[in-house]
Amino acid sequence: MTVTIVGSQLGDEGKGGVVDVYGDAADVVVRYQGGDNAGHTVVSDGEKYKLSLVPSGAVRGKVGVLGNGCVVNPETLFEEIDGLRERGLEPDVRVAERAHVILPYHRALDGIEEDEKEDLAAGTTKRGIGPTYEDKAGRRGVRIGDLLDPDTLRERLEYVVPQKKALAEEVFGKTTDERFDVDHLYELCLEYGERLADEEMTVDCGTYLQERIDAGDQVMLEGAQGTSLDIDHGVYPYVTSSNPTAGGATVGSGLGPGVVGNGEIVGIVKGYLSRVGTGPLPTELGGVEGQTPGYDPETADEAEEELATYIRDEGGEYGTVTGRPRRVGWLDLPMLRHAARASSFTGLAINHVDVLAGLEEVKIGVSYDFDGEELLTMPPTTEQWARCEATFETFEGWPEVDWAEVAEDGYDAIPENAKTYLEFVSDELDVPIYAVGVGPGREETVVLEDPFA
Ligand code: IMP
Repeated sequence: MTVTIVGSQLGDEGKGGVVDVYGDAADVVVRYQGGDNAGHTVVSDGEKYKLSLVPSGAVRGKVGVLGNGCVVNPETLFEEIDGLRERGLEPDVRVAERAHVILPYHRALDGIEEDEKEDLAAGTTKRGIGPTYEDKAGRRGVRIGDLLDPDTLRERLEYVVPQKKALAEEVFGKTTDERFDVDHLYELCLEYGERLADEEMTVDCGTYLQERIDAGDQVMLEGAQGTSLDIDHGVYPYVTSSNPTAGGATVGSGLGPGVVGNGEIVGIVKGYLSRVGTGPLPTELGGVEGQTPGYDPETADEAEEELATYIRDEGGEYGTVTGRPRRVGWLDLPMLRHAARASSFTGLAINHVDVLAGLEEVKIGVSYDFDGEELLTMPPTTEQWARCEATFETFEGWPEVDWAEVAEDGYDAIPENAKTYLEFVSDELDVPIYAVGVGPGREETVVLEDPFA
């Protein structure tokens, strides 16, 4: 069977930790979208591993697959594999031949276009994600399979690279270097291809996964980013360029919707909200310069700023990939209702409950006031979302406790007020709680339900 893990908010919900806990029962862990814009930290035997591309299961001896829905930067891939090998691991990573390759010009153009877009900039990770998906949709991309086929590769590059060079030079007025040079890129790609072939890393993803399932293996499908960053269901244009929602798990892995839908789909929720990048955020607390629209630290509410800083520091809300401080806010229920519907969640894992401990009161945005109308889910346009004002329900806070002990003792040991908070969310979404995260290590997860069992 399959278990699909989907971020229900704006990324950074702690998916890596849940994948890690549930992944124990999995034989194969698959990423189905995104690329090295994701960042996850896996803590294993006291060792911290920061990964952005290699599926976290690879740290635990699982087969890690980058599905056809991913965009793969071979530089990052090899760097991460080499890093893990240096630390004594032998990661087994496979890459779909249908996945698209992030090339140096994609990264260069991501930076150039972000600077150009000004207010429309999504605050991307500048990893070349958007430009690579653009080329995929524009049918001018280079796929992993092409790296192993020198003639096709040459043909693709000769078509696309002069266009990219002209774009950078003539539209954006930049000078270009070897990142836009066909011969240089061709040699580089051949090297990538040789290594992929030598290490027998490439697979026909859907066929490979179906064969594993037919042989009785358990497959975990690991989404990156989150629902509100989904290109279709997120807060366009402040989104990533792929589908983190569960539909993406089928398209991006090559397994049919029946296979994914017959499995479990676990929505990962952070107990509050965090956001990297720009765009509206109705339940935001305080602000971050350069990210929160219209934010002025001079006129900001001091108490709110203090609360935001507390949550940011307690939760370590600084980007894994970029180190940028993240914007923070209260839990947004309309956002979660939207996510639960879009992905058919069968269970919830609610994380970072420990971060909120010690606060006198905790709030949840339960609905929006949209020009006097009550909305229970997110409106379809981001401009409408920006006009929404959150209506809050206040909950009594819970004390700081020994969370490691709580994790050991199980759900009943969670402070009463925290349980009220958790159960409110579960009832509102009509989705049962499968796990509660009370700390960063995988031991600090209270497991109520194992979806593979
Ligand atoms: P891109 O995916 O680099 O194109 O960035 C598009 C938007 O998605 C930006 O707002 C990023 O900050 C956001 N984003 C991309 N990956 C992540 C992630 O793993 N966590 C949180 N935000 C992300």
